[in-house]
Amino acid sequence: METIEEATGGRSAAEVLAGTRRAVGPALRAAVDTLPEPSRRIAAYHFGWRDENGVPTDAGSGKAIRPALVLLAAEAAGGRVERAMPAAVAVELVHNFSLLHDDVMDGDATRRHRRTAWSVFGVGGAILTGDALLALAFDVIAASGHPAAQDGARRLSAAVQRLVEGQSADMSFEARPQVGMAEWRDMAEAKTGALLECACALGASFGGGDSVQVAHLGAFGKSMGLAFQIVDDLLGIWGDPETTGKPVHSDLRNRKKSLPVVAALAAGTPAAEELARLYHGGPEPTEDEVARAADLVEAAGGRDWAETQADTLLATALEELRAAGPPRRTEAELAELARLATRRDH
Ligand code: IPE
Ligand code: IPE
Ligand code: MG
Ligand code: MG
Repeated sequence: METIEEATGGRSAAEVLAGTRRAVGPALRAAVDTLPEPSRRIAAYHFGWRDENGVPTDAGSGKAIRPALVLLAAEAAGGRVERAMPAAVAVELVHNFSLLHDDVMDGDATRRHRRTAWSVFGVGGAILTGDALLALAFDVIAASGHPAAQDGARRLSAAVQRLVEGQSADMSFEARPQVGMAEWRDMAEAKTGALLECACALGASFGGGDSVQVAHLGAFGKSMGLAFQIVDDLLGIWGDPETTGKPVHSDLRNRKKSLPVVAALAAGTPAAEELARLYHGGPEPTEDEVARAADLVEAAGGRDWAETQADTLLATALEELRAAGPPRRTEAELAELARLATRRDH
């Protein structure tokens, strides 16, 4: 069978991501190096560049999906990748701000196969480092001197506001017995879709794209972002922590209304009723109850439903991508990235 490279001249998603990490890594580190201590040290730990004692390491910094989207969207809009580098750095900084805070909110002690920053340096240190990364992101955009910088800062700010709105809804759903499908979608579009949409729109805009290209590429990112969150929800229940580097069942323990759970609770079957009883308030569920909940979500059809939704969203994303009219090779690479985002195991 022909490889992607042979068929289109494009790279595989793994190659795109590795290339992005090589291209964006130095600029990201240079930006983080400007932070005051102790945020610089905590950020260097979080990004996997240093261990908890400040000794250099090369633990993983994350997949770099968002900066890859920024750079490829710039190319898709007909621009040069280098011009969008500040936007790629800024979006990755915002993403990592959100992770530092998210792990505090979710009470998670593991990410990227390592202890989370709050569990090493304390909640205060992790929150302040997140704040510092957020401010730094806007500094990187402003300092770029790019003609699209002002518009870009406003786009990024709007995405952050949406992310905050989504995180807030995600937390409030924990205390609710049931959440509707539309409510789940609004929440996930805000907490995850908005930043992926922004990554693509910002990249297209820094690449000199017109408003139609920016809109289609943004819509591509938004659908892909929702599919990405669904896969995150699936991995949170059935992923292998050895591969994901994140705790499994944390969502169930926190009574998160992730999509498989929302779909299962709405099924109206005996499994759905048992799940609703397990998920209904009271003390933190035991390990056995959490494992039972995972089985019930599957039995009530929540896993299948979520997988089908992710496939549908991927198809929508690919239509938007095509409508943006990118060069064939760039379209192939973005499509591969979208497929990876919806079929990933970590
Ligand atoms: C995790 O994002 C948070 C979500 C929005 C689901 P990623 O899976 O992109 O995290 P890293 O950067 O690769 O670790
Ligand atoms: C993802 O949050 C969205 C943000 C971090 C803003 P989750 O809580 O669903 O993501 P993970 O699974 O901890 O990475
Ligand atoms: Mg989390
Ligand atoms: Mg969360």
